Amino acid sequence: MKENPSISVTILLAYLILAIGGKEVKCIRREENTSGVPLNQEVNKTILVDGRDVYDCIDVNLQPAFSHPLLKDHKIQMEPSSFPLSISTKSPSMDVIPQAQLPLIECPTGTIPILRNNRRVHTPVETIDKVITNEEHEVAGVEYYDVLYGTRAKINIYNPMVKNNSKDLSASWIQINKIIKAGVADGIGAGSWVYPSYSGDNSARFHVAWVDGLKTCPDHDCGAFVQVSSSVGLGGRLKPLSVYKGPQYMIDVTIFKDPVTKHWWVAYGPQNIHIGYWPREIFHFMKDQCNYALWGGYVQGPTVSSDSPQMGSGHFASEGLGKAAFVRNIEILNKENKYVIPDDKKFGHVTTNLSKYTGKGYVDGHSHFGVHTYYGGPGGFV
Ligand SMILES: *[C@@H]1O[C@H](CO)[C@@H](O)[C@H](O)[C@H]1NC(C)=O
Ligand SMILES: *[C@@H]1O[C@H](CO)[C@@H](O)[C@H](O)[C@H]1NC(C)=O
Ligand SMILES: *[C@@H]1O[C@H](CO)[C@@H](O)[C@H](O)[C@H]1NC(C)=O
Ligand SMILES: *[C@@H]1O[C@H](CO)[C@@H](O)[C@H](O)[C@H]1NC(C)=O
Repeated sequence: MKENPSISVTILLAYLILAIGGKEVKCIRREENTSGVPLNQEVNKTILVDGRDVYDCIDVNLQPAFSHPLLKDHKIQMEPSSFPLSISTKSPSMDVIPQAQLPLIECPTGTIPILRNNRRVHTPVETIDKVITNEEHEVAGVEYYDVLYGTRAKINIYNPMVKNNSKDLSASWIQINKIIKAGVADGIGAGSWVYPSYSGDNSARFHVAWVDGLKTCPDHDCGAFVQVSSSVGLGGRLKPLSVYKGPQYMIDVTIFKDPVTKHWWVAYGPQNIHIGYWPREIFHFMKDQCNYALWGGYVQGPTVSSDSPQMGSGHFASEGLGKAAFVRNIEILNKENKYVIPDDKKFGHVTTNLSKYTGKGYVDGHSHFGVHTYYGGPGGFV
């Protein structure tokens, strides 16, 4: 395996600030009335998962996105026009690392599950705003900075420690953006978050997110994501989780543009279940393509620099397989909607604070890990 050192720290930092928005501008906004708690909505079925997560099945045509002003005339697309083409002839079936699973949710046909988040509804708005303005972040992993139309990868799932009483989050993530300049960007991403102040516990949960300039909107927040799957519950707990020096688990995630409708889809799992999409209408810049991608970990929140959470497994990249978290089989989509491996001249590792977290990138087309990264670190947990 060869490490790819192709990129200087200066360039990395420039891209990072663009991509992640910089300390002053990054925020998570939660809108009380688009948080998925049905107010006037008819709930067709309520499903209790693990005795604590409540999913409401609501009519697919009455989901939060359809009250978004930009989506008044939006016509729902129940399936992508086509799936991206794989040019790899290698069969991925021999994988020894199993998938972490989301609970199976069986909403009736024509309805979608939306997680009820009591914690969020009861948080006063002022408190959230205060948190937003103080937010800071750190990143470790690999990044790409040229035109791309989507990505897929396998994300190793751990349970990094994040203090219960902090407002911090730790993500194992893939993300693509169209960046114009700092704070002026669109983006979408998917992966696992440990975010106690948002979800009410320390579980690793599957989330998708839309980045709109200065704000990040997870799952159905901000009412922009159009879900079509009746069985994938966004915000659900992933299980089992990887253990340091023990069994490893991962999830498959794909983000791609529908070449016909130009909506941006997210698909989950080895069966490529298409969960839903962010409609073309909501994007300012991502009308056609992206110019940046990130794979690895990030932490963000008001105490990430003073009292940092763990990232990944809580161990540094140099420890490698079974000990450091990975994102592997990284591929990007080209203009022809085919998967290709990222050009290593435009691809490199990224680390914002080496004393807390590290990221390493490998370009190795021969191993079944393909292009991959190890990343993570203990943060303040040393
Ligand atoms: C949310 O909806 C409730 C009831 O419809 C309303 O009283 C409240 O003001 C709304 N909150 C916000 C933040 O819009
Ligand atoms: C949801 O339930 C209502 C009332 O029972 C029913 O009229 C409606 O058709 C249901 N919707 C779906 C999509 O099943
Ligand atoms: C954090 O909360 C979880 C339950 O959500 C609990 O199991 C754990 O002990 C708590 N940790 C601390 C340090 O309070
Ligand atoms: C990295 O984190 C350490 C420990 O919190 C801190 O002392 C140092 O200033 C940070 N370095 C950078 C470049 O931010």
